[in-house]
Amino acid sequence: MHQNSHQVDSHEPVMLAEVIEYVKPQKGESYLDATAGLGGHAAAILNLTGNYNQSVLIDRDETALKRLSSSFSGSGIKLLHQDYLNSAKELIQKNRTFDIILADLGVSSPHLNEVSRGFSFTKTAPLDMRMDQRQEKTAADIVNKTSEKQLAEILRNYGEEPRYRKIANLIVKNRPINSTTELAGLVRKAWVGHSRTHPATRTFMAIRIAVNDELTQLSQALPLWLELLAPGGRLAVISFHSLEDRIVKQYFASESGNRYDAALTLLTKHPVAPGPHETANNPRSRSAKLRVAAKQK
Ligand SMILES: C[S@@+](CC[C@H](N)C(=O)[O-])C[C@H]1O[C@@H](n2cnc3c(N)ncnc32)[C@H](O)[C@@H]1O
Repeated sequence: MHQNSHQVDSHEPVMLAEVIEYVKPQKGESYLDATAGLGGHAAAILNLTGNYNQSVLIDRDETALKRLSSSFSGSGIKLLHQDYLNSAKELIQKNRTFDIILADLGVSSPHLNEVSRGFSFTKTAPLDMRMDQRQEKTAADIVNKTSEKQLAEILRNYGEEPRYRKIANLIVKNRPINSTTELAGLVRKAWVGHSRTHPATRTFMAIRIAVNDELTQLSQALPLWLELLAPGGRLAVISFHSLEDRIVKQYFASESGNRYDAALTLLTKHPVAPGPHETANNPRSRSAKLRVAAKQK
């Protein structure tokens, strides 16, 4: 088998050139991909390192895992069908370390395109939004069982939705809500006048973040990733949401700086954004921000 021959979906990995430029993968280095998805970043990085045996690909989504296991079959790489927080705990227990760790956060295009998963508000589907379908809590639980106050908090904190009170109130008054389009229709009612994006965009993002505990996963995983980095190892995080980027920025700042005990050196002083060519070709990349830091040697 040729190690350079792993084929992945045509889906373009976000800021791949920038990831390679800042992370500078070297021959023989070990790689941990916390959110391997379709394996685009992984294939490119592993082609440079050539070290499959000491590398690990994680995804909590079963469809992603199946695709990864066929794209990387026979390569000797380890695949983990688990969330990256619990995976990091397990890898620490096994005393593993990695030269490169990448987390490309959020959902992947198959999630959004597979109507039945309930991530999209444009087609009717059950309110699901679980990345890991073994998990019990679904979007329907959040929408139909959470108190009005908690719902409003979710919409405000995770969606940065200005009409969080009105939308939470409409949801509670119209429960049970059974489908994505029913929910999107209610959100539209809370909006008078013009909204640049579909008015349901922020509500759906907020509920998705809550269903998958995305911010807790990220803030708790960051110190574990630092622990998993080998001296001189690089940690790269691509975020798509200002709250995620803030968590990464603050964590990197807290572990770096001109202190004798700083654990990290920032390789990106400011977040790196995709170039105009990429944003024109891949709308999902528009909100992406990349931050990279290296562990002290
Ligand atoms: C943006 S996609 C990654 C795309 C990938 N870098 C590529 O090149 O194809 C994010 C992936 O991370 C997974 N994911 C998101 N949060 C996760 C978590 N907490 N633990 C494990 N996987 C997660 C999603 O299921 C999705 O497949």
